[in-house]
Amino acid sequence: MNELRILEDFEKKLIPHAPEKSSVRPEIIGYGEISTIFKIDSIKGYAFKRLPLFKKRENALRYEENYKKYCEFLRKAGLTLPEDKTIIIDIKRTPISFYIAQKELPSNSIGNKLIFNIDVEKIKILFSRIIKEIKKVWEFNKDNAGSVELSIDGQLSNWALVGEKLFFIDTSTPLFRLEGKEQLDPEPLLKSAPGFLKWILKLFFLEDVMNRYYDERLVYIDFAANLYKEQKAELIPMTLKIINKNLSEGLKRIEIEEVDKYYKEDKMIWTLFLSFRKFDRFIKTKILRKRYEFILPGKIKR
Ligand SMILES: Nc1ncnc2c1ncn2[C@@H]1O[C@H](COP(=O)(O)OP(=O)(O)OP(=O)(O)O)[C@@H](O)[C@H]1O
Ligand SMILES: [Mg+2]
Repeated sequence: MNELRILEDFEKKLIPHAPEKSSVRPEIIGYGEISTIFKIDSIKGYAFKRLPLFKKRENALRYEENYKKYCEFLRKAGLTLPEDKTIIIDIKRTPISFYIAQKELPSNSIGNKLIFNIDVEKIKILFSRIIKEIKKVWEFNKDNAGSVELSIDGQLSNWALVGEKLFFIDTSTPLFRLEGKEQLDPEPLLKSAPGFLKWILKLFFLEDVMNRYYDERLVYIDFAANLYKEQKAELIPMTLKIINKNLSEGLKRIEIEEVDKYYKEDKMIWTLFLSFRKFDRFIKTKILRKRYEFILPGKIKR
C-alpha cells in the first residue's frame, strides 16, 4: 500500500475523540496547542501532524503551499528542519485533512525532555544555541525587509538536539508575511475551536497569538515563560541572561516580572481554550452523537 492509501484508511477508521478505541490506534507522541502528533504502525519512522481543518480542497492546497514556502524560507534563513512530506486526505463525510509526515526524532532529543537529562552547563549551551537559531530568523527578516517576514515559535518543545544537530520541528503553523501581508488564513485554525468560542477568540486573542511570533522580545519572553509549564522555572534567570545578551540593538532588556505576567495570561488563554474544546467535544459526541474531529490532550500540568 502506498502512503496515501494508508492514511486514507487511517482517517476512515480513526475515532478522534477516543483514538485508543479506533482500530488504527495512533501512538500519540506529543500535543501542541492545536494539533496532536502521533506515529502509526504502517509507516515507520515518521511523526504525523494532522490538521483536519478544511472544507474545500483548495483551502488545503493553499495551506500546503504555505507550509512548503515557510519551510523553504526557514531553511534559507539557516535553520535545520527534519525531512518531511505532506499529504492531503479527502474522503467522504469528514473534513479534508492536511497531514505532515515529519521524520521522527528520538523523544529524548526533544528540548523539553532533554533538559531533564543533562546538567545545567549543558542546558546553558543548548539554550544559547536555540537563541542563536532564533536570531537567524530576525536576521533573515532584516535582510528581506519589505518582502518576506517570518515568524517563529521558539519554545523549547520545538527543538531537538540529535548528535550535534539542532533541529527546529514546529513548522505546522506557517505564519509568514509577504510584502507585509499575512499569508496564513486563520479561519481554518479557528475551526479547531467550538463555534460559540470563535467570536471571543477572534476578538481577544487571535491577533495576539498570530502577532506574537513575529516579535523578537515576545518570542523570547514566550520561550522563558514556557519554562514554567515545563516545570523548570528555576532556569528562568539564567535563560534571561542568555537572551538579554543576544537581544537586537535598541530593544529593552527582558525582566523576570514581564515573563511572569505573560505566563499568567498565556496559561489562562490556553487552559480556557482547552476546557472549552473539551466541553464542545462532550456536546458533540455524547449529546449529539456526532463525530468530533480533534484529538485532545488530557489534563496538562502548567
Ligand atoms: N518529528 C518529530 N519527532 C519526534 N517527536 C516529535 C516530532 N514532531 C513533534 N514531536 C513531538 O510533538 C510535540 C509537538 O510538536 P509540534 O511542536 O510540531 O506541534 P505544535 O506545532 O506545538 O502543535 P500546535 O501548533 O498545534 O501548537 C513536540 O514537542 C515533540 O514532543
Ligand atoms: Mg510546538
